[in-house]
Amino acid sequence: MLHDPNRVYVFDTTLRDGEQVPGCQLSTPEKIEIAKALELLGVDVIEAGFPISSPGDFQSVIELSKAVKEPIICALTRANKGDIDSAAAALKYAKYPRIHTGIGASDMHIKYKFNSTREQILERAVDAVKYAKKFVEDIEFYAEDAGRADNEFLAKMIEAVIAAGATVVNIPDTNGYCLPEQYGAKILYLKENVKNIDNAIISVHCHNDLGLATANTVAGIINGARQIECTINGIGERAGNTALEEVAMILKTHKALNLHTNIKSKHFTEISHMVSRMMRMPVQPNKAIVGKNAFAHSSGIHQDGFLKHRENYEIMNPEDVGLNEAGIILTARSGRHALKHHLERLGYEIEKINLDDVYQRFLVLADDKLSISDDDLLFLMSNSDKSAYKNGYKLNLLHVICGDNDKPNAHIKLQHNGEEKEASATGNGPVNATVNAITSIIGKIIELKEFTIQAMHGGSDDVSKVNMRVVFEGKSYQGYGFSTDIVKASANAYLDAINKFL
Ligand code: KIV
Ligand code: ZN
Repeated sequence: MLHDPNRVYVFDTTLRDGEQVPGCQLSTPEKIEIAKALELLGVDVIEAGFPISSPGDFQSVIELSKAVKEPIICALTRANKGDIDSAAAALKYAKYPRIHTGIGASDMHIKYKFNSTREQILERAVDAVKYAKKFVEDIEFYAEDAGRADNEFLAKMIEAVIAAGATVVNIPDTNGYCLPEQYGAKILYLKENVKNIDNAIISVHCHNDLGLATANTVAGIINGARQIECTINGIGERAGNTALEEVAMILKTHKALNLHTNIKSKHFTEISHMVSRMMRMPVQPNKAIVGKNAFAHSSGIHQDGFLKHRENYEIMNPEDVGLNEAGIILTARSGRHALKHHLERLGYEIEKINLDDVYQRFLVLADDKLSISDDDLLFLMSNSDKSAYKNGYKLNLLHVICGDNDKPNAHIKLQHNGEEKEASATGNGPVNATVNAITSIIGKIIELKEFTIQAMHGGSDDVSKVNMRVVFEGKSYQGYGFSTDIVKASANAYLDAINKFL
């Protein structure tokens, strides 16, 4: 399997170790959907389940084997014939099947879990590998609680299972106990003391009980492991497993390590959302790589530095993990620079705007809200007491008559350059009458191409958001208006579009 010495294989166990978490159980169709996304992401191995544990798990391994063809499909067993028979049967449709068998390696497990001795455990490990080898060529052996196992005994066990036919040897830090230095040293010890180690790939499987899963995994690969076992979003038993996205981005960011995976990182955001939604497991906002705030800069100093040169505060490209752009979150602590960035992103030409006025009103609004959305900015720009535009038109008065017996009529007053202008017009409805009245004051040929009204939240007392697209001299301009009065919201949207070209 191993050709390129710098290639790190990715073994995803979201559907096995991850799915063991109470409340995270998935149906087989959901597992297939995630498995297909993992295939697209470029993982090398999918641990599809523990077939002996339940008929559902058995069936899922069968269905995943049929649905996914690129990655190796792996099934977990304990070191006994019944488990291995079940795994072999569940893997019968897999194009590339792997049996993952193993037993405890620490004295703690040997004594208190198996009530056994090192010699007996060693024999069971070897027997399990030999038995599994009758069914499939690719056998991964796990030495459970290897993190706390005696290195000399661990090396003896690993040498014996490789001699019995194991192609991959998994060194789990089952309880998330190790420090990165210790775990890295353990891998190096195996590299240097297991005679036949080059006949197998060393795999690292770290749990996050002390928050060290990713650090330990990286220490493992720096010291010679070439497979990482991990889950999307780091889900898993207790504090979870190593997060796939974290290790993949560490290798991508730290080029000097000269290690690489086959992972297409631009799928991270999407697959993270998918796993979180299906497993009903929210991602913490500050989670590295995939958390909502992972690329969001909110303090004024950081935002300013980021906008001057993004690498001042960014070590990865958000696009590389599937985000469209870095989130400069607007809050009461954001500066003018951040506000300007967002207004430009929304299509406003800054030279035409009273940026100081808009910024003052932005601060008042931001004090009331945790963060400012695009709709909030559009609201600020279109519903100003003063015009947001240096040479803008502002609605001073709107009076509309409409209903069954009258031809709709609008009377308006607009303020422009310190002057007030007024006009009346009729139309086929109140909005049409208002638009006609405004156009008669502007005195230009303006085509209204699109007009949509949307309630912001629902309910007859709601604020309406109006979106208009107008064409002036062959160019399109978008305008937005907000009000509890839909005619006023429409007038504001129309003026917002007009102010963009005048
Ligand atoms: O954490 C662990 O030791 C495991 C093994 C079953 C591989 O998940
Ligand atoms: Zn585990």
